[in-house]
Amino acid sequence: MDIIEDAMLFARAVFSEDFSGHDYYHTLRVFHMATRIAQEENANLQIVQLAALLHDVDDRKLSSETCEYKTRAVAFLKKHTVPEEQINEICEIISQISFSSNSGAPKTLEGKCVQDADRLDAIGAIGIARAFAYGGNRCRMLHDPNGTTSFTTVDHFYDKLLKLKDLMNTNTGRRIARGRDTFMRSFLDQFYSEWDGIQ
Ligand code: ADP
Ligand code: NI
Repeated sequence: MDIIEDAMLFARAVFSEDFSGHDYYHTLRVFHMATRIAQEENANLQIVQLAALLHDVDDRKLSSETCEYKTRAVAFLKKHTVPEEQINEICEIISQISFSSNSGAPKTLEGKCVQDADRLDAIGAIGIARAFAYGGNRCRMLHDPNGTTSFTTVDHFYDKLLKLKDLMNTNTGRRIARGRDTFMRSFLDQFYSEWDGIQ
């Protein structure tokens, strides 16, 4: 079987029971967006596609015990006899793309493509849906106008989502992020209007 097809099946099996916004369709969207960006930016497609499909299988929040050594991703790549050098490259990308890892921008073009694709899925209409799904999963409030509740989902927009547009690595990513960012800002305007009973 084609390694990309098998990686899709592998990701689907890993995420079959996730309700925190990291479900299989997140991985699939990141895969399609990373492919599109990689084509526009002339990056190595195989590396980008494998890193995209495997980027969350050893995520700290979902699989803390395999996170450090990317045990699941490495086992999958070894099974497909991917050369060690490429396995290291893919694992390096996966480590670098997380927002929370704070390791700065990925060094390689391939890493930049995957990070942009992952970040694009956190903004726009899908990003809004994922944020509220994640908040619900963690029993968080939607919003607290008095600011006395810590970690509401609306806070997350200011902590992270509205910053992502300026953190894009590629021109393709930046262009797509601009439209999604504008949409999120108009969502927040409408949200506050409705909250206050104005519209
Ligand atoms: P990554 O895929 O880069 O590791 P996260 O795991 O931090 O990203 O986030 C996954 C999804 O959950 C994203 O859409 C993100 O916006 C959302 N999310 C993460 N933390 C919060 C939070 N505190 N409140 C609401 N949504 C969150
Ligand atoms: Ni992701």
